[in-house]
Amino acid sequence: MFWWYKNKKPKLPQKRYSPNSVPILMDDLYNHYIIPSESLTYLEKLGTGNSADVHLAEYTNNSNSIKVAVKTLKLNCFKADTLKEIKLLSSCKHEYIVKFIGWMETPDEQMCIITEYMGGGDLSTYLTNPNKLLMVSTVFNYIFQVLDAMIYLSHKYILHRDLAARNCLLNETYEILKINDFGLSREMDINYEYISEANPRLPFRWLPLEALLPTSSEYRTFTFKGDIWAFGILVWEMFERGHELYDGISLPALIRFLKVGHRLPRPQHCSLELYKVMLSCWDENPANRPTFDTLQDDVEKVFQEIKTSDPNKLNIAIELNCGNEYERPNIS
Ligand SMILES: Nc1ncnc2c1ncn2[C@@H]1O[C@H](COP(=O)(O)OP(=O)(O)O)[C@@H](O)[C@H]1O
Ligand SMILES: [Mg+2]
Repeated sequence: MFWWYKNKKPKLPQKRYSPNSVPILMDDLYNHYIIPSESLTYLEKLGTGNSADVHLAEYTNNSNSIKVAVKTLKLNCFKADTLKEIKLLSSCKHEYIVKFIGWMETPDEQMCIITEYMGGGDLSTYLTNPNKLLMVSTVFNYIFQVLDAMIYLSHKYILHRDLAARNCLLNETYEILKINDFGLSREMDINYEYISEANPRLPFRWLPLEALLPTSSEYRTFTFKGDIWAFGILVWEMFERGHELYDGISLPALIRFLKVGHRLPRPQHCSLELYKVMLSCWDENPANRPTFDTLQDDVEKVFQEIKTSDPNKLNIAIELNCGNEYERPNIS
């Protein structure tokens, strides 16, 4: 997550949301948001990401108990940076953004962030589970929820920088999607790490071309147009049920592939019109990419068009490994 400074603010269309957060002072983080460790009972491990281990825990406060997720950041995370980011996270209140509950520091100085527990787990796991039914209408529903949250963040001048299925969480009925894991990328190492090939877990396949190019004057740049690129990739992930992006391409091959104008192919159940919207997110020139506001209008138009002309298309179940129809990108 990264704040644009005032003089770098991009021009955004008229706000649909006025961010409802009262600025949170650093003191408030100490006064109101510290969770005493004795109020947490750890239950099970939920997952491991790039920067943290996440556990399910029961949090008891004034004799009320709720389930929470406790994210314990790896030791190489600096406390000052983490606190700045916690401050930002705590200022985000939106129905499609995972709710911040508090934070604490363990006796061995590990920083923990406590958020609401999302019983459906992450979207990437859901998409790749063959036992889960995924309808085209559900994908549209998820897309609209993501867009709502991203409009909110972009109006607050907050970059996510790691928008991907693995960072979207679902509620226990899989109807509500919330964006998670923003602000947790260290500013100092995000670009270096994210394009490092040594570690295949790092998500360079979600990054915009300008963040990958070693020779560009815009080398390692990531603006809100990078989040737009990642949004297009996320839509692709949904329609391909978590299929590996670009078939696991290497970084140099990906740069060559994108540089000559190739892009991920259209998934089988993604309409041509929606695919055009995705392609606009992957325009080589960041200035030509849409904003989240215009994307909301564009996707709404596509959705309404399908609904009136061929509503049955919304009831199609997207099967896992409908790979026979998957046009592999032609990468040489
Ligand atoms: N609030 C939550 N509820 C349920 N599962 C969660 C929650 N937060 C994280 N997880 C699980 O832990 C994984 C890693 O969490 P994440 O916040 O993305 O960590 P990292 O910053 O290390 O990538 C997620 O993909 C998800 O499976
Ligand atoms: Mg993550």
